[in-house]
Amino acid sequence: MNQVAPPPAEKAKSPNAPTEETVLSVRHYTDRMFAFRITRPGAFRFRSGEFVMIGLEDTSAKPLLRAYSIASPSWDEELEFFSIKVADGPLTSRLQLIQPGDKVLLGRKSTGTLVHDALTPGKRLYLLSTGTGIAPFASIIRDPDTYERFDQVILTHTCRQVGELRYGQECVAALAEDPLCGEFAGRLVHYTTVTREPWANQKRITTCLEDGQIYRDLGVEPLNPACDRVMVCGSLDMISDVKTICEKAGLREGSNAHPSEFVIEKAFVG
Ligand code: A2P
Repeated sequence: MNQVAPPPAEKAKSPNAPTEETVLSVRHYTDRMFAFRITRPGAFRFRSGEFVMIGLEDTSAKPLLRAYSIASPSWDEELEFFSIKVADGPLTSRLQLIQPGDKVLLGRKSTGTLVHDALTPGKRLYLLSTGTGIAPFASIIRDPDTYERFDQVILTHTCRQVGELRYGQECVAALAEDPLCGEFAGRLVHYTTVTREPWANQKRITTCLEDGQIYRDLGVEPLNPACDRVMVCGSLDMISDVKTICEKAGLREGSNAHPSEFVIEKAFVG
């Protein structure tokens, strides 16, 4: 009797291994920044503002994965990311070349502190970002829950160059047409500053907070722990400087376990 050889045993994949997703679109904004959208597995759940591991298969045994803030809101059927391009970055040097139809790896678990659960209730929400640090806030401004919790949302974005503001400008402009958040668009204020090119407001957001210009420009009272809540995302230096400003104003840092008045997360690069 002929015996059929059993198929070679498939390499067992850990249930925690990243899933393989398909790139749906890619948009390059400048020579330093690009955005892309990928498929979202039905079982992938996250809270707006969280980050997840993203990556590519590598020739070495281990895939190359980095933490990326999810820029799309939790209700979106696809996942969006906004990334820096680092010429010699192990991941972004390759990731910036992806095209629709290519595969990227997506971690199974999201996490992070830039979530509503880490803040106590307030009236005004400041979302302070530099560079690609706007990504988690692109998620939060497109989540209706944000406008249920806060009367006003002030999104600030500071970049080196004017062209680097465009991703955020497009997200904000599209909000008016958003099926879930369109009615709240009037409650979102977008405050942009540029540091290395001429712009109406040519200075760091930290300077605007310290010299009070942002409060004068927007006609609001200075940071007040009684009503203001703050989320911060940018470089390590930026979050450290903003943290000092928040603490000086009397706000305390919160976390998922202990919600409070401001939360921070570094923008991820590489
Ligand atoms: P600057 O041009 O003065 O360094 P990067 O691309 O390096 O992450 O910077 C993004 C933006 O963040 C730039 O406009 C940069 O300003 C600004 N920035 C860098 N460090 C700080 C900081 N400590 N506080 C506030 N803004 C900062």
